[in-house]
Amino acid sequence: MPDDVAASSPVLQPSVIVIFGITGDLAQRKLLPALYYLMKANLLHEKTLIVGITRRDVTAEELFSKIDLDGDPNTDSDPEVVGRIKGALRMYKMSMTEGTDYDKLLQYLNHLEEEQGMCLNRLYYLSIPPQVLGPIVRNLGEHGLNATCQHAAASSRLLVEKPFGYDLTSAKQLIEETGRYFGEDQIFRIDHYLAKETTQNILTFRTHNPIFDKIWDSQHISQVEITASEQIGIEGRAVFYEQTGALRDVVQNHLLQLLAVVAMEPPAAMDSDATHAVKQTLLEQIMPIQPNEIGERAKRAQYEGYKTEVGKDDSFVETYASLNLSIDNPRWKNVPFIVRTGKSLAEKRTDIRVIFGDAKADHNELNLRIQPNEGIDVVLNAKKPGFDETLQTVVMDFRYEDNFKNNGHPDAYERVLVDAAKGDHTLFATSDEVLASWRIVESVVKAWEVNGDGLITYKPGTLLTDLEATTI
Ligand code: BG6
Repeated sequence: MPDDVAASSPVLQPSVIVIFGITGDLAQRKLLPALYYLMKANLLHEKTLIVGITRRDVTAEELFSKIDLDGDPNTDSDPEVVGRIKGALRMYKMSMTEGTDYDKLLQYLNHLEEEQGMCLNRLYYLSIPPQVLGPIVRNLGEHGLNATCQHAAASSRLLVEKPFGYDLTSAKQLIEETGRYFGEDQIFRIDHYLAKETTQNILTFRTHNPIFDKIWDSQHISQVEITASEQIGIEGRAVFYEQTGALRDVVQNHLLQLLAVVAMEPPAAMDSDATHAVKQTLLEQIMPIQPNEIGERAKRAQYEGYKTEVGKDDSFVETYASLNLSIDNPRWKNVPFIVRTGKSLAEKRTDIRVIFGDAKADHNELNLRIQPNEGIDVVLNAKKPGFDETLQTVVMDFRYEDNFKNNGHPDAYERVLVDAAKGDHTLFATSDEVLASWRIVESVVKAWEVNGDGLITYKPGTLLTDLEATTI
């Protein structure tokens, strides 16, 4: 995070951030670097502590020796900040399923507060496989870790990583179970795509630019395409990915949330409740794909080599998924919303392409680039200089990098931690949104579980357009 962003932000309440899964991939790649940057920007209160829960004997030294804290292999992290983060970290060994260990954890947190001489907000960050989520939440609840600190002056909050369940039924169960121990105001369901800076700009852009605000509907827009293409494959997450696949991993959450932000009505106020209200309405208006439409409106593919990677010759788990969705409201009547994602493709690119006018005739496009090269471009038609009346497509390009030069932006995970510590739910998914999103994809999830009908294979590094020329 750049210094000028930091300067304008207040220091967070003193907290203890308890990370379940500290030795896991996400904690090491995203969470600890995010804490490093927050610490570097002096946004964490000096009494803040990090408790790293692990089942093994891992020391803080061992943990940090494997992490590139500043996320840049070409630079060394600031030793003074590294010293501070190491000083704040306490590794804590326990079994995540053994009830008595949670009693001891509670005592340990009480002891840390005594040591710090103050009550700390408790943030439990669950960066763990989905199957242990239920047992951990239950144990936290049953052993009193969901309550405020011993002096009752601070709050306990749960930060949960997706996926929230693996289908509609399991999501309902998980929500019910979590709700038994933690109030909705204590739960922060992370969807880091919502915390990306450019995602937050979508609504602002729509509502503060009258030229677009006035034409944000089916009379002017013929199609919307939301794409998350990745170059990386499954990166060793074989067990996780075999249970998940592209539809559950990215479409059900990240892409449906982006769709909702693009298509929802502007909220009555720019606050969490008003935003979630319009988003919920929109998600409920997306028409679930009917079983008889699946062949036509849901496409899937798998990259070559995936089966060997997961050690399963007959795996038909998709690494690419695409849905053609419709929204049942007057604003979006007959406008197809294509959402698609794939791994091992030619490029890393997340963007939202809004097509104005007939895509097959003269038309304009608005391209909201979420990452990389964050920005927005508008594709227009212009007369090519010369004696002939020749039309040429030209691009007006707004790039964050050029326009906000000294004003870089916090990483999504820094934002997630800051907002959860402040208790701001705007950029997190509510339980109703999670359920509405599962409802949209449920028939496809169920159909794709049964067999590999229609699954095609693509070579790693394939261009998305080439892949789709085969599938669609
Ligand atoms: C995660 C998925 O939620 O998002 C990963 O589990 C995916 O499979 C990642 O690679 C993409 O995130 P980003 O921020 O790199 O686009």
